[in-house]
Amino acid sequence: MAENLNLEQLQTPSSVFFLFGATGDLARRKLFPAIYSLYREGKLADDFAVIGVARRPRTQEEFREDVYQSIQEFCRYKAEANEEWYAFAQHFEYKALDINDVNGFRELKEQTEKIEERYHIPGNRMFYLALAPELFGSVSFNLQKGGMLEGQGWKRLVIEKPFGYDLKSAETLNEQIRQVFREEDIYRIDHYLGKEMVQNIEVIRFANAFFEPLWNNMHIANIQITLSETVGVEERGGYYDHAGALKDMGQNHMLQMLTMIAMEPPSRLLPEDIRDEKVKVLRSLRPYLNAEEVEKNVIRGQYIAGSANGQELPAYRAEDKVDPNSNTETYFATKLFVDNFRWAGVPFYIRTGKRLPVKTTEIVVEFRSMPTNVYLGQKHKLEPNLLVIRVNPMEGIYVKINAKKPGSESDIQPVAMDFCQSCMVGINSPEAYERLLHDAVRGESTYFTRWDEVASAWSFVDRIAEAWAEDPGKLSTYPAGSWGPTEADELLEKDGFHWWPVNGQDEDNVVWNK
Ligand code: BG6
Repeated sequence: MAENLNLEQLQTPSSVFFLFGATGDLARRKLFPAIYSLYREGKLADDFAVIGVARRPRTQEEFREDVYQSIQEFCRYKAEANEEWYAFAQHFEYKALDINDVNGFRELKEQTEKIEERYHIPGNRMFYLALAPELFGSVSFNLQKGGMLEGQGWKRLVIEKPFGYDLKSAETLNEQIRQVFREEDIYRIDHYLGKEMVQNIEVIRFANAFFEPLWNNMHIANIQITLSETVGVEERGGYYDHAGALKDMGQNHMLQMLTMIAMEPPSRLLPEDIRDEKVKVLRSLRPYLNAEEVEKNVIRGQYIAGSANGQELPAYRAEDKVDPNSNTETYFATKLFVDNFRWAGVPFYIRTGKRLPVKTTEIVVEFRSMPTNVYLGQKHKLEPNLLVIRVNPMEGIYVKINAKKPGSESDIQPVAMDFCQSCMVGINSPEAYERLLHDAVRGESTYFTRWDEVASAWSFVDRIAEAWAEDPGKLSTYPAGSWGPTEADELLEKDGFHWWPVNGQDEDNVVWNK
């Protein structure tokens, strides 16, 4: 019998971590801090090295200073400029490189071999491309031509989204990198899969006797996934105006969360078994067959000027690097069906948008109501039971049930059972990137998206994007700081449902016993 993977027992091997795009925003905000946290928690092998690669010239000292500053600003552990820091910083080197110049890769090889000798690293190399996807192919080819993939030890490629902008471009990209790397050596990051509570979905579902038996169309009325952001497009207008909410968040984070909620229990907890179950969900998504179906089921919106917390907020079209006539959506909401036996007839509503009132990610499972014509239901309006998985920024699980109002004869009120993980004293959950880097270096691929998942998600999203392209002007608007276009509310109202308030805003309605 094949054994389940025991993550705790996976050793972290000595390796060199190559960070392409080392002077960029992702490196500064997420990757250097993640490496430092792993180091502080003893999760890196003693013999590790990091080589930052980017175009601009930088001395080793300047680069180590960049790393230090990034940790001071963004890491959950602070560094002090003492001996310990010095020892850590010695593991970092820099290489200025034009990624189209194969000679640079040959030099990189020499530099790498020296480091590997110094730290006794047996040729394990992890290439993290924090770069525009158009460059993935050239970097892969030049890694090969420059001899970086030769010799003993594993060679892995870690890449960031967006993985293409539609199925066709994703296929081209994939063909390029597959000429150099094997699928099992490619780690496609979706940072939502690195979030504590997204990983917890599996445990909540499959380790609790009172959820799994109810997890189907007999007992669940609908499932809602909300990923709301207060930010606008910041300095990313140039990228975002070509992507839009559907491709920026829908194709990846939203559909990935949906797969975790809807998948069948895998027979073993091995990466391929879990990913097989996830991809089945994506393949079971009912496609929208034509532009009318898209229009009926998918709401797209763009924010106009508005305000939040007393602050005036500009319209999307007035944002930096955004076309003043742009029809790009900054919000979308859609109703989906997973056409399999478990979920037949259960609507999944997902929504995401920029410049909404709160930053939050929550999954609400609404259970079917009790019959209204018997016993308690005859006299009372009973609220449906909810299971809420709070992903971000609050982490936890909240269950809403009905109970007798104390002191009354038979009045019923909704009460909450709440497990607030992020409220627990001393909890300092690792950041998504820490978990994902740690997994990639240990060869644990469960929480990375496999090519067939990416392709299935694009096929689904492409149909919506194509329908929108036929009629780009058909776009609802919403004031910045509001909950999105009213059409998104109507989407649920037509089915007799409504969006449940998120971020603790349902609490007024509920009695708390903490
Ligand atoms: C990124 C998107 O993938 O996720 C951004 O490109 C978005 O537009 C971000 O802001 C949200 O991530 P998080 O972890 O802050 O919710």
